[in-house]
Amino acid sequence: MTEARPDHAQLVALFDFYVAAGIDIALDEAPHDRFAENARPAERPAAAADVRLVQEPAGDPERSLRALPLAATAPPEEVAEAARMRAREARTLAELEAMVAAFEGCALKRTAKQLVFADGNPEADIMLVGEAPGGDEDRAGKPFVGRAGQLLDRMLASVGLDRNQVYIANVVPWRPPGNRTPTPQEVAICLPFTLRQIELCAPRIIVTLGAPATQTLLGLKEGIKRVRGRWVEYSGLAHPVRALPMLHPAYLLRQPVDKRLAWRDLRLLRRAMEEIGAAR
Ligand code: URA
Repeated sequence: MTEARPDHAQLVALFDFYVAAGIDIALDEAPHDRFAENARPAERPAAAADVRLVQEPAGDPERSLRALPLAATAPPEEVAEAARMRAREARTLAELEAMVAAFEGCALKRTAKQLVFADGNPEADIMLVGEAPGGDEDRAGKPFVGRAGQLLDRMLASVGLDRNQVYIANVVPWRPPGNRTPTPQEVAICLPFTLRQIELCAPRIIVTLGAPATQTLLGLKEGIKRVRGRWVEYSGLAHPVRALPMLHPAYLLRQPVDKRLAWRDLRLLRRAMEEIGAAR
């Protein structure tokens, strides 16, 4: 008996499943050292030219953005440097969002359904930063809308906050395939945009959710359970900003016993809100 060949729709569904499960690259019989490929300058003359184009201050930003090198063809440090130069040029959050949407330097864009830039109120005094969108966020185009997001909403409500009083973003604005942790290279490439996003939002309090956001934005390398619940200073803005590392709501769904720690941290947040007159 001959097996029926899959039709087009079945193949598309299969590829969708592969991408959702984190399989985002076709394998050959022989292994490839992708890091070595990126490190060989002779193999990427076009990328170097592209980066120079991006560094030109004048001109149509859309044009130079389109010329940004793909992560697959340029070393991550060069792409991150190009992103840094671009991010500085965004004068508003809307400009920054358009810039990130047009950015081709992060390979995650190619497997994600869409950009997940932010949710909430850009004028808010409190900014929350998570790690990266998951499947629900990828479909909705908004951060923290899945189960972890629903828990986050309940946590915020417990201290009198809702999404109109906070601004929410992630360190990486595209879903990593299969919800894997973003690589250090992906984080480094996206970081200039996240830092500019914080600058343009100019919050008075930053809450980092989970270890990746805490390590990336606050430089705290110890485990999140050690560093959570202690105020530190975020030094990326002209004025001092208080930052509070907290446990990630996705972690709390897996370890509900640690919700009591999150509750302590939420009380700290509430007290700080009262001090700056942001509490209702
Ligand atoms: N986890 C995150 O860190 N960010 C989201 O947007 C959703 C889940």
